[in-house]
Amino acid sequence: MPLSPSTQKNPTKMLERVLSSRRSASHPDAENDDVAADDSKTKKHLPISFFTTRITNYLTRSGPVWPCFLLLALVLLLIFSLIFNSRRFVCVSPYDPVSRTGFFGFDGLESDFGSLGVPWCRPKHGKTVDWTSKDLIKALEVFVPIYETRPIINNMYGMGFDHSFGLWFITQWLKPDLMIESGAFKGHSTWVLRQAMPDKPIVSLSPRHPEKYLKKGPAYVDGNCTYFAGKDFVDFGSVDWAKVMKKHGITDLSRVIIFFDDHQNELKRIKQALKAGFRHLIFEDNYDTGTGDHYSLRQICDQSYIRGGGHSCFKDSDEARIRSKRKHFWEKAVDIEELCGPGEAWWGVRGYVRDNFNHSHKLIPYAEHFQNSRFVESILDVYWELPPVAGPSLTHQTRYDPARAPPPIVEDGRYGLFQRLGLTRFETSVFNGYTQMVYIQISKQ
Ligand SMILES: C[S@@+](CC[C@H](N)C(=O)[O-])C[C@H]1O[C@@H](n2cnc3c(N)ncnc32)[C@H](O)[C@@H]1O
Repeated sequence: MPLSPSTQKNPTKMLERVLSSRRSASHPDAENDDVAADDSKTKKHLPISFFTTRITNYLTRSGPVWPCFLLLALVLLLIFSLIFNSRRFVCVSPYDPVSRTGFFGFDGLESDFGSLGVPWCRPKHGKTVDWTSKDLIKALEVFVPIYETRPIINNMYGMGFDHSFGLWFITQWLKPDLMIESGAFKGHSTWVLRQAMPDKPIVSLSPRHPEKYLKKGPAYVDGNCTYFAGKDFVDFGSVDWAKVMKKHGITDLSRVIIFFDDHQNELKRIKQALKAGFRHLIFEDNYDTGTGDHYSLRQICDQSYIRGGGHSCFKDSDEARIRSKRKHFWEKAVDIEELCGPGEAWWGVRGYVRDNFNHSHKLIPYAEHFQNSRFVESILDVYWELPPVAGPSLTHQTRYDPARAPPPIVEDGRYGLFQRLGLTRFETSVFNGYTQMVYIQISKQ
């Protein structure tokens, strides 16, 4: 807009005028400002009768128009409510993380399984691990770039991200002089152990040598590892450990960690490790009651005297209702029909102790199952279940029920942290294999 001749001469004057006119238009004076501020406060305290009178006056004045508005509002309300509720009750897609979050809310995703909770094994002196969730988050920052360099990108039937991180974290924290693994498959877990302790020896037991897989695709064979594999395979329970320790110059067995990913009855493995004098054990697949191919610590300690432990096969129970609801959303959740075997046996897997990839199984009476938990507690110094790395709304995992796991390291809703740690760079499938990996410390009674 061109300036008028007078203002062209004195543009500052014009600016002043404009500013002052603006000021007077909205705020006639400073006093009024205060009044306006006070007014806004007093408005909050107007009596309800003030509003009802005004509404009544308005409706009386507007005559026959207002019923139409009312009707329109009702129709709109009905449409919105239909859209919203149909999403909740009809279109909830099983295993879709957004629907799950919508249905349960973040709280439901990580809740204590309603009245069920998460059972665990009680150590004899109540000792726990000396790392914190802060340590876990710091370690994730270090481990993510390491995991990105893994030689076996798609480790189907082996460990995914959660357990790889858990194994690496525990190992680098404990700094053992020797690492033993039972169940190597293509060698991914051997590689993880190597990342944790670059210079320490590994002993690996597996019926098939990882080098066999090299012919078909990616595998990992370690240069500083003694393999009891292929034709040299010996089961953990049959190894002459005193001889092996001597060969490696190990005199203190508390400087050794053992990683079991061989799908054997964990009670059997604990007894064998105890007999040999080992103290630090990690079990990869700590299956929940009613699931898995071997008897696990989680199953053994699932007892009614532990919060979240002990179950009921009563079809009309709260537990049955919660289980069937959760089964809708999590592939590996089990409902009451799957949980309970003949004679309402819920312990182990439908009353069975499974072993060796479920190639063998035997019925176990409840009394014996109960005794097993007392035995485990009597030799247990520490029991620590690895939490899932992040909540399901972040990882989009669809398999395990988060309510049967400890709260995740990166909780639902903390997308910023999840992204900062680099976890968004991984495919969803790497987060699907979580089965409550557990670290225990044991000693003789
Ligand atoms: C699930 S895989 C191990 C996956 C591996 N730890 C990984 O992270 O990729 C189980 C392995 O245990 C081996 N296995 C079977 N019976 C075994 C036994 N008695 N002792 C040790 N390993 C055994 C299988 O041959 C298989 O390689």
